[in-house]
Amino acid sequence: MLTTKAADFIRSEHDLRPVVAIILGSGLGGLAEKIESPTAIPFHDIPGFGTSTAAGHRGQLILGTIESVPVVTMAGRFHRYEGWSNTEVAFPVAVMHSLGCRSLIVSNAAGGVSPKLRVGNIVVIQDHINLMGPHVVDREDASNRERSVQLDPPHFTRPANTYDPILSATALGVAIREGFDAYPGTYLATLGPNYETRAEYRMMRRIGADVVGMSTVPEVLAASSLGMRILGLSMVSNVANPDQAVKANHEEVLHAGRAAEVKMEAIVRGVLRTFLST
Ligand code: 6GU
Repeated sequence: MLTTKAADFIRSEHDLRPVVAIILGSGLGGLAEKIESPTAIPFHDIPGFGTSTAAGHRGQLILGTIESVPVVTMAGRFHRYEGWSNTEVAFPVAVMHSLGCRSLIVSNAAGGVSPKLRVGNIVVIQDHINLMGPHVVDREDASNRERSVQLDPPHFTRPANTYDPILSATALGVAIREGFDAYPGTYLATLGPNYETRAEYRMMRRIGADVVGMSTVPEVLAASSLGMRILGLSMVSNVANPDQAVKANHEEVLHAGRAAEVKMEAIVRGVLRTFLST
């Protein structure tokens, strides 16, 4: 099976046994530099992984420790808007599960839909709305047939209790202790690659979305079907205001991004520390 082949390859490169998988979105990339005793493996070396990623993504699997917890992190990820299928986007999650990870921390940069959100805020994802469209049928090549064996969840099931309430409460607790705001919220996923019209933002608010982005859901569905505990974090990189065209000040956005990264890191460290005590 391709998942096993990939996991065997990774184990042959490094003998660390990770227990937590972390997907570093645009808001969390800096954490990759803080991993202790790191070993980086380019995605394109790993059997079954896609071979190219969007500009600005490093495309590496990094094994090491954070807060003494053995972790495997994806610096960069695969997106549906790049043409990858759900199975291809989710494949690394199955591999990290196969390496021994039973928990997933998944992060992203997202647009703030809720009027109370500001650039740089952190949203702890409680649930999602999947508007990525239908599951794209995979290309009928041998590697995808192999991938699907492990990953295809039973059809017509509800992804119940997807986001772990205890991890979420821990994340929100870290924010309170560290003195910054983090909001519980609902993540709405679009296929992309385009952003939304004002009418679409109005719709998203009305159906209960707090943030909108183009990732995370395929990985979360796979992790959920594999029984993993999931923590989802969004960094608000811009606000989606349907009422007025807010001209974002680029400097402000960059500054908020850097500030948000510090908050993201604090949450990840805090959550990993509680892993040691439980
Ligand atoms: Cl405003 N929309 C979508 N679909 N994805 C995003 C975003 C907005 N901001 C960051 N990612």
